[in-house]
Amino acid sequence: MHKKRIEKLIQQLDNSHIDLIAINASQSLTYFTGLHFHVSERPTILLVGKGKAPAFIFPEFEYEKVNNAAFDITLFAYPENPSTWRNIFKKALRYFKGYQSMIGVEPTAMRFLEINLLQLASSKIRFTSAAHIFRNLRMIKDNEEISSIRQAIQIAQNALENTIPFIKAGTTEQEVVNELVINLLRNGSEPELPFAPIIASGPNSSNPHAVPGSRKLREGDLIVVDWGARKDGYISDITRTFALGSVDDELMTIYGTVKKANETARRISPSNFISEKIDFAARDVIQEAGYGDFFTHRTGHGIGLEAHEEPYITAENPTEIKSGMTFTIEPGIYLSGKGGVRIEDDIVASDDGLITLTSLDRELRIL
Ligand code: CO
Ligand code: CO
Repeated sequence: MHKKRIEKLIQQLDNSHIDLIAINASQSLTYFTGLHFHVSERPTILLVGKGKAPAFIFPEFEYEKVNNAAFDITLFAYPENPSTWRNIFKKALRYFKGYQSMIGVEPTAMRFLEINLLQLASSKIRFTSAAHIFRNLRMIKDNEEISSIRQAIQIAQNALENTIPFIKAGTTEQEVVNELVINLLRNGSEPELPFAPIIASGPNSSNPHAVPGSRKLREGDLIVVDWGARKDGYISDITRTFALGSVDDELMTIYGTVKKANETARRISPSNFISEKIDFAARDVIQEAGYGDFFTHRTGHGIGLEAHEEPYITAENPTEIKSGMTFTIEPGIYLSGKGGVRIEDDIVASDDGLITLTSLDRELRIL
């Protein structure tokens, strides 16, 4: 599988001004090699170019991990002493005869540390964004990737059901988060969660990216729960909004509006499979209801190895949605100081329409 992905990556260099692709410790490194490296003070770089096996520059003590890679790779290991690193980078460039290369990098992942070491190895190399190459390859998921996302969704949904009994008056947001995290792990999530779960209650729920704190849940609160699990590296990202006891009429109204916006976007026809059209489908419902100014973020984002990746479901984004793309649809309305609602589902596009992978009920659940 990884061998194929590397081959596809090399194919992308045809008709391109890019000579070499440099991938540092990132989800893309995992995608193309199956290797897991975290960014640290030690540089890690996979160099991929035509006509040669990829070169991997990495710390010597990680040799066991790298030696088990399931495809042909030329290793450039360096010892702990940083003064030796420059020379290893030189050797790796020499291997590709790459002293004057145009090197393509992933702009959201590459760091100055690695760029600088490559530049010190040869002042004649240049760098450019290879964002389009990474996106072309990673955006469309194969069946195995979709199956991992489905499992990550199931784990997250089970974890939420186990946590519901803890969502009650007097419990703090942080206590609910703690319980949810434990339940995610118990249900089989990998420990590296896609993001720290959000529990935002009452007025805090009007902040889309609230940080859970010591506020105690109260009757009359809306409670936004945004959480996800990770399976085989792939993530889920779900949001549901609950009511604690009865909530006021306007909060009920915005709940109904967000639910309708979510449904409308999920039912969009394949003839409208364009990012901006999906965004508009949701936004239009909220605007019509008079809450356009209170839907302050995009409608969704791609999901995969990362919780935010292409395709982004935003206004003025002409990206065509193709079969196998996976992303969220998550409209919201946020009334400052009062409360907010978001309903987020995970989607895979097919030729016949969008398939909603999340199955949790969207009717307002009163706890
Ligand atoms: Co989310
Ligand atoms: Co999301």
